[in-house]
Amino acid sequence: MQLLDGKATAKALKEDIAVSVAEIKAAGGRVPHLAAVLVGSDGGSKTYVNNKVVACEEIGFESTLIELSEDASEEELLALVDKLNNDDTIDGFIVQVPLPDQIDEDKVTLAIHPRKDVDGFHPENLGKMILGLPTHISATPNGIVELLKRNNIDTSGKHCVVVGRSNIVGTPMAILMSRNANPGNCTVTVVHSRTANMQEICASADILVVAIGKPEFITADMVKEGAVVIDVGTTRVPDESRPKGFRLTGDVDFEGVKDKCSYITPVPGGVGPMTIASLMQNTLNAINMS
Ligand code: GUN
Repeated sequence: MQLLDGKATAKALKEDIAVSVAEIKAAGGRVPHLAAVLVGSDGGSKTYVNNKVVACEEIGFESTLIELSEDASEEELLALVDKLNNDDTIDGFIVQVPLPDQIDEDKVTLAIHPRKDVDGFHPENLGKMILGLPTHISATPNGIVELLKRNNIDTSGKHCVVVGRSNIVGTPMAILMSRNANPGNCTVTVVHSRTANMQEICASADILVVAIGKPEFITADMVKEGAVVIDVGTTRVPDESRPKGFRLTGDVDFEGVKDKCSYITPVPGGVGPMTIASLMQNTLNAINMS
């Protein structure tokens, strides 16, 4: 088994982006500016958003973090989205999800200008992705594709099983892996909570991408010998032996599976850093979009 080191691959991608930023600066241009909106104080979301801001600093982007209280109204958030849409100093922005219950996530997604939607969640961006047109592609699936590419994983003609059908990971992942591209050209199966023969289908995957948010859901009997396993899960599992009182746990039973697969992403240090690097790439791209 070889580890697919997302941390190292993300570092290489961020270094490439930093070179572009330095070139923009040298030519007297304005550096990309990402704004991140966090509503409430969920620990996990706060960490992810902070990591995005730190990545901006590392590569020379400008960043702005906007925090709203847990009880912020939908109107308040939509007014902020409108302000960011019309702020010419901001190239792209994200609203971290999940949002508190009083806010309709779909309404917020639809309100973000597609050019500034560096998460790639807006239907216009999703539609363009399906058609293979240049656009912002959701950071997590795009980061996984980049991870496969930069580690020379052959995907053509392989059976890719995507576990989970979320709008932000499973669904776009399935589309990207089936496209006529490299990485891509897979035969894709999407499995989910209503799938009847989950074990059998997963065990037939050459490439298994797991994004269901259930710690250690994928066990050794669900993994084919020599498979490439991509673990998107990051659940905080209580663990008193850790300084923070929890450990981040993936959707894959890493210890049980590691000797069976050819490649596997660790948690943490696999998909997470690639998601952030990919968001940075989208923000860089945003400066040239109209
Ligand atoms: N929550 C979990 N992943 C993401 C992401 O990629 N973008 C946003 N905005 N929220 C998330």
